[in-house]
Amino acid sequence: MTVTFQLNGEDCRFHGDPMTPLVDILRQERFLTGTKAVCREGFCGACTVHVDDEAVPSCLKPIALVQGCAVTTIEGLSSGNHPLHPLQAAFEAADAVQCGMCFPGMVMSLSAFVRDNPHASRPEIKAAMVGNICRCTGYERIVDTVADCLDQARKAGQLVGGVHV
Ligand code: FES
Ligand code: FES
Repeated sequence: MTVTFQLNGEDCRFHGDPMTPLVDILRQERFLTGTKAVCREGFCGACTVHVDDEAVPSCLKPIALVQGCAVTTIEGLSSGNHPLHPLQAAFEAADAVQCGMCFPGMVMSLSAFVRDNPHASRPEIKAAMVGNICRCTGYERIVDTVADCLDQARKAGQLVGGVHV
């Protein structure tokens, strides 16, 4: 089966088993290794990417289901002249990353969340992280950073992930 889709803004074509998990194509064929394959069962969130702007675990997404879709990985998340998405920059500035294994998936989940919930509270931010496991257990620092990022953006009338807050 041939599947065509957009990958980080470029045309992409896959020919092979339609049940091949998207994460394997990203990592093994496209060498986009920012997307991590950890549990491969939908529990950890490390493989999260955006499919048509929705955060989804790519280990559970057969390639056939992305036919005609726009897929964005951590490598394609930033836009314009910005090398990092605002959340990535905030995590870096706050030194919130420990081993880093969970972070690509965490950023992909949370970037979609802040885009859609620019006025999110701490409990709402925590609820948005339930699908992303951090084995280094740095959760509070991550929540602090997301909350600070949204707060500062609101005060400055800036953008976080493409929406005015
Ligand atoms: S590798 Fe996909 S959810 Fe864990
Ligand atoms: S920073 Fe190590 S798993 Fe989250």
